[in-house]
Amino acid sequence: MDAVVIACQRLAVLFTECSFVCILAYAALLYLFTGVFRKTLYIPFKLYFLAKYLPGVDLQKLGRWAVITGATDGIGKEYAKSLAQKGLDIVLVSRSPSKLAKVAEEIKTGYGVCVQTIVADFTRVDIYDKIKKALEGLDIAVLINNVGMTTNLSTFLKTKQLLEKTVDLVNVNCVSMTNMTALVLPHMLEKRKGVIVNLSSIASYGFIGTATYSATKAYASKISEMVQRTYKDSGVIIQTIEPGMVETPMVMVAYKEDSPRIDFMDKALKYSAISADTFVKSAINTIGWSDCCNGHVLHHFVCLFSRMQGAAADVKLLGDLPE
Ligand SMILES: NC(=O)c1ccc[n+]([C@@H]2O[C@H](COP(=O)([O-])OP(=O)(O)OC[C@H]3O[C@@H](n4cnc5c(N)ncnc54)[C@H](OP(=O)(O)O)[C@@H]3O)[C@@H](O)[C@H]2O)c1
Repeated sequence: MDAVVIACQRLAVLFTECSFVCILAYAALLYLFTGVFRKTLYIPFKLYFLAKYLPGVDLQKLGRWAVITGATDGIGKEYAKSLAQKGLDIVLVSRSPSKLAKVAEEIKTGYGVCVQTIVADFTRVDIYDKIKKALEGLDIAVLINNVGMTTNLSTFLKTKQLLEKTVDLVNVNCVSMTNMTALVLPHMLEKRKGVIVNLSSIASYGFIGTATYSATKAYASKISEMVQRTYKDSGVIIQTIEPGMVETPMVMVAYKEDSPRIDFMDKALKYSAISADTFVKSAINTIGWSDCCNGHVLHHFVCLFSRMQGAAADVKLLGDLPE
């Protein structure tokens, strides 16, 4: 009789342990499944389908002006055009006076809004008093911290003019975002509304083909996230955008047609590069829907894929980079 009781007790323990293990296994599976479901279906559906068709943030209600840095080409110019199309008056901040005048005219005649320009070279750090004065008294609804530069594609030690370039990169990609935010945010906090969009990059996760650029973009993502978390209940929307490859002059500087061909870049250009116009039309819809995203559904999946590849991508790219 005792033997039967002991056997039953052992079975009960085994059953309990087994079911505990089973519960753990099911919980792990559920966790994995919800993670995969979230990243592959829910987020793309929400940001790049629902956000496109449902009414988003009414930017005109946030103020009169949109300020865009690096606004005479590529992504910045497309943000300026899209915001003008939404009825906002535009302040273009960039370095080339002739390009500023041309884009200002294009936007004025194309969208019938007021346009102001500020000539500023963001490689310099003595420009912010001038920008502050020019923005004084403007009711700013939106700030797009877009200005950015990159280096040639190479391994770290082969980066051309590494020292000089690093100072410029930090000033243009990091200092500009920090200082422009510091200039505009107090005004937005006071009225408890406004939008700040910070252009980082998928390279912020780590791209050894442009190590210094990648590091400055990691800064951009982090400062944007920290400021967003600090002021999340203030009524001001602060968004980080981490694009993949967009067809702009910047990409062509890093990867000129006469550069040695790199398999990784050729494939990235062929399969994942989109026009600045297509990119911004998608990214602008995500304002108010996400604090941080890639801006376009294709780049969302490029990002997932490159994160899955991890170190293997480094090994492959190192083999391809010009010596
Ligand atoms: N293109 C991509 O694939 C890609 C991918 C991820 C992230 N991003 C990010 O998106 C942002 C825009 O990139 P983009 O590709 O559109 O760049 P882009 O085509 O090279 O345009 C850059 C804009 O910034 C201006 N600019 C450059 N250096 C400046 C300086 N020192 N002072 C003032 N203005 C300056 C340029 O004016 P000028 O014409 O006078 O030089 C131009 O208007 C950057 O922050 C970039 O890191 C781009």
